[in-house]
Amino acid sequence: MSLSGASRVAGVIGRPIIHSMSPILHNAWLAAAGIDGVYVPFSVESERFEAFALSLRGGSVAGLNVTLPFKGMALALADEASPRARMAEAANVLVFRPDGTILADNTDGLGLLGAFAEQTPDFDPKAGPVVILGAGGGARGAVAAFIEAGAPEVRIVNRTVERAQVIADALGAKAYAMTQAAAAFDGANAVVNATSAGLSGAGALDVPLTATPTTAIVMDMVYKPLLTPFLSQAQALGRRTVDGLAMLIGQAVPSFEAFYGQAPPASVDVRALALKALEL
Ligand code: ATR
Repeated sequence: MSLSGASRVAGVIGRPIIHSMSPILHNAWLAAAGIDGVYVPFSVESERFEAFALSLRGGSVAGLNVTLPFKGMALALADEASPRARMAEAANVLVFRPDGTILADNTDGLGLLGAFAEQTPDFDPKAGPVVILGAGGGARGAVAAFIEAGAPEVRIVNRTVERAQVIADALGAKAYAMTQAAAAFDGANAVVNATSAGLSGAGALDVPLTATPTTAIVMDMVYKPLLTPFLSQAQALGRRTVDGLAMLIGQAVPSFEAFYGQAPPASVDVRALALKALEL
């Protein structure tokens, strides 16, 4: 990588950030495109996030991807927000414009739908009900994305049904308790795991995937491991699956465009690079 005084700087901010794949993806794209730019990781204490982000007004840093736990705070501090960021109540992209204003966007929904389009090209979000498991930030974004994409019905299943109900009321979906998962799965076109179950420290997700139609597509936002216990359970039942790495790459593509003003080069196999990094 050759940098200069004119290098365009962008990055990713979160806590923790050490396991982020984003620097690997963006720097590979920058190198292949021959752009004079760099993409760096930032980690700050929660109480310093706002001051840090506001200090970037003016564009010395072109933009930031924002990950946990700062997506809500990122939306709140921006001067302008895209409709999709407002609907998700979260921003994974901040753009620092030269005029000093900060724009918030959310490309996670594009990443989610792009993952389906890539790995199950015949999937049509308009063709039937979609089930989202979970009621945190990731789940809310997924509900918003599928409603935008024209899903005829979105069903939110959560251990704490009250949290599901809040999102359902806000966005026009239906809420189910985890104990009602079988009813939610009935006739489902797709099922997306947006819970943190299965991540280290959390229990495994126990839902009756047998209640889904054999044609249902099962997706997990978790990408470490790539084949999560949830996806492996779905595959054992013969269901087609979509993995979380495709979503991660799918959200990175429009982020790169926002920071560097051009689409990332298609010549780089960023999935292979990410898979190699995940093995480490
Ligand atoms: P996010 O990272 O998406 O913002 P969060 O707000 O921490 O997430 O929410 C995590 C989600 O995973 C919640 O929906 C949580 O269920 P509750 O709202 O009932 O807490 C869900 N979750 C975490 N561990 C779980 C488990 N073992 N079984 C089922 N759901 C689980």
